[in-house]
Amino acid sequence: MLPIASALGDEEIKAVTTMLSAMPAPKTKHVTRVDFPGSPGAVLALRGAWERNIPECVVCHGPGGVGVGDHFPPLAGQSAEYLSVQLNAWRDGSRKNDPNELMGHIARSLTDEEVSAVAAYFSSLSE
Ligand code: HEC
Repeated sequence: MLPIASALGDEEIKAVTTMLSAMPAPKTKHVTRVDFPGSPGAVLALRGAWERNIPECVVCHGPGGVGVGDHFPPLAGQSAEYLSVQLNAWRDGSRKNDPNELMGHIARSLTDEEVSAVAAYFSSLSE
């Protein structure tokens, strides 16, 4: 992504972000924290793993991972591959743009299996 983003001029960045922000958000299933988490990915997403200082994802990313305001991006309905690539980028240190290392700490606390499971869970919420 970095080489592509660096190659864009200011006008091109404005044009592409205006176009993308006008597109409709993906439709996702309605999930709340009272729903029974039926898979390991759903447990992490809706309950967290507090014994390892991992809060449930929805505490920041909104109910069912729909996103909150400008700072907590939506996870629900994103592709599992995109989500796991982002989590692995924090784990290997190549992504470090998060405020106060909020995501870096969480991503590094996850196992490979948990990254795959939680990415598959949020991706499965697409309608
Ligand atoms: C304490 C708050 C908090 C919690 C809890 C949290 N996140 Fe995040 N997450 C953030 C913030 C803030 C960002 C945006 C970081 C940035 O500016 O790049 C983010 C970004 C992400 C992104 C990148 C999305 C994108 O479009 O680039 C992924 C993937 C992600 N979080 C997954 C998770 C998962 C999975 C969990 C649960 C295991 C989780 N997050 C829990 C705060 C949180």
